Amino acid sequence: MTRIAVIPGDGIGPEVVEQAVLTLDEFRLGLDFDFLDHVNADTYLRTDVALSDEDVARVASSRSALLGAIGDPRVGSPAYGRGVLLRLRFDLDLYVNYRPAKLLSDRLSPLRRDRARAVDCVVIRENTEGLYTGLGGSLRPGGGHEIALDIDLSTHRGTARVVDHAFSVARREVCMVDKANAVEHGGGLWQRCWRTAAARHPDMATRHMYVDAAAMRMVTDPTTFDVIVTNNSYGDILSDVASAVAGGIGTAASANLNPERGFGLYEPVHGSAPDIAGKQVANPIGAILSAGLLLADLGHTAEAAALRHAVARAVTEGETTPDLGGPLDTRKAGQAVRARL
Ligand code: NAI
Ligand code: MG
Repeated sequence: MTRIAVIPGDGIGPEVVEQAVLTLDEFRLGLDFDFLDHVNADTYLRTDVALSDEDVARVASSRSALLGAIGDPRVGSPAYGRGVLLRLRFDLDLYVNYRPAKLLSDRLSPLRRDRARAVDCVVIRENTEGLYTGLGGSLRPGGGHEIALDIDLSTHRGTARVVDHAFSVARREVCMVDKANAVEHGGGLWQRCWRTAAARHPDMATRHMYVDAAAMRMVTDPTTFDVIVTNNSYGDILSDVASAVAGGIGTAASANLNPERGFGLYEPVHGSAPDIAGKQVANPIGAILSAGLLLADLGHTAEAAALRHAVARAVTEGETTPDLGGPLDTRKAGQAVRARL
């Protein structure tokens, strides 16, 4: 049996993960799901522990992991989200955040011009460094003399490996995105790592864009992108823009990967959506397509393709949750996908 750790989490997380797991089950591939149901805001509020060492070990020793969402309005401190998501990314060294954005159905595009609609790109976001390490501090908090410092960390090792990964998965072009004209030191390091990798892949087209220009292009003509590689914060934002032009936050899938270890943590891009939690109206497609990425990485490529195809058909035929204009609840939307497998 192939053990998959499952962290349903908070809010709509358990609702969408249920549909992802049922969909994976449909393939009868001998996957054995290990549910870490206790990892949620209730446990954190009671015990002050976001994720225990045992939890981390359980996830690390599994073949892959699937996560719903982490976040609850009752928890004020960012320590909870950091303690689960960032801890898993950092402790398991999941340095690639892989976020594909491919239009599922023409009717989902928010773009008016036909020519610009067929987005099919991947944002590869560095996932362990940048602005999100927590390095920094504040001085004299709370007053008019407060100073706040968040350090934007880039290491040669961390940058080179994620840039190399982008070249290894690109089909036609790698576009490196930074802000080297204003953020000089990190920008320079990214530029050097990118040029070195490009020299090793003379057959791959390359392009460089500043992040502000890339964000504009993602809206005006996203079809020009293949693989974008960028740092943690720019990747966070650009991949959300990409998911919006590809069909919306409810459909966006992602993987947190350590390619050397062959381990992945798969999760929808959306959060716990407290505004709709508990109502069974959340769109399960982001979670289901994340499970599809898991299947592909386990080598079940035909099943992964069939899953994507079934999702696209359900969407085109309007068998979706209300966010995509359909009449179905979360369970029925999951069933609509499974019925088309
Ligand atoms: P969110 O993604 O949870 O929600 C943003 C908006 O999109 C809401 O209006 C929500 O109803 C809608 N939405 C999200 N997913 C949807 C789905 N599957 N179907 C239909 N509509 C959907 O982002 P927000 O509101 O900024 O964050 C809520 C909580 O989630 C916070 O605690 C935040 O920290 C956490 N969060 C967790 C993430 C994770 O676990 N990886 C990622 C982003 C946010
Ligand atoms: Mg985000």
